[in-house]
Amino acid sequence: MKIRIAIQKSGRLNEDSLRILKDCGISIDNGKDQLKASSRNFPMEVFYLRNGDIPQYLRDGVVDIAIIGENVLIEKGEDIRVAEKLGFSKCKVSLAIPKGVSYNSIQDLEGKRIATSYPNTVKNYLSEKGVKADLHIISGSVEIAPNIGLADAICDIVSSGSTLFKNNLKEVEVMLKSEAVLAVSPQITEERKQLLQKLQFRIQSVLRARQ
Ligand code: PRP
Ligand code: MG
Repeated sequence: MKIRIAIQKSGRLNEDSLRILKDCGISIDNGKDQLKASSRNFPMEVFYLRNGDIPQYLRDGVVDIAIIGENVLIEKGEDIRVAEKLGFSKCKVSLAIPKGVSYNSIQDLEGKRIATSYPNTVKNYLSEKGVKADLHIISGSVEIAPNIGLADAICDIVSSGSTLFKNNLKEVEVMLKSEAVLAVSPQITEERKQLLQKLQFRIQSVLRARQ
């Protein structure tokens, strides 16, 4: 019996996720071109998946645990338990508008078009503030939207800020702060919970050593 973990297939989280497993003494056979890999020294199977699909895999119990951005869980998996914050891949989910446009408050977005890959996060934020806007859901390259006349504002991840800068945008609201977390399937079996505990124990000592 093995614990099945999902990690991001490619992208910012991938490398750091593999690194923390390695620091935990878990060696994974190179899975670069495979979607599945196993460890030789820990009862673990690694599935390389698309970020946005991971909450559903956890829900379905197809994987037992995952390393995923909190922001993705907030958007698509509010029902899924976080076992551990992992301290890397820190980012914000923010609203931004063109640099030259003035901004006083969130009310300025009333009736405006907002392009985003995080519709639920934006909807919740705006409804809390009592603002109604028109959402355009796109899956990537969101920051180009104002420049091509698709939207007045965008909501996306901000890490270094360089994508905003390059697209002549300015951050006007930080909706949430996020980092990588270890998330757990609601369907995990008792047996695999034991393996999870073992893993968490190792992760905790790695995180302590990193401080
Ligand atoms: C992500 C995110 C932002 C950018 C933020 O995009 O969607 O656009 O990174 O990072 P920064 O603040 O350091 O520039 P990514 O490059 O992953 O591509 P995508 O949006 O097309 O998925
Ligand atoms: Mg992007």
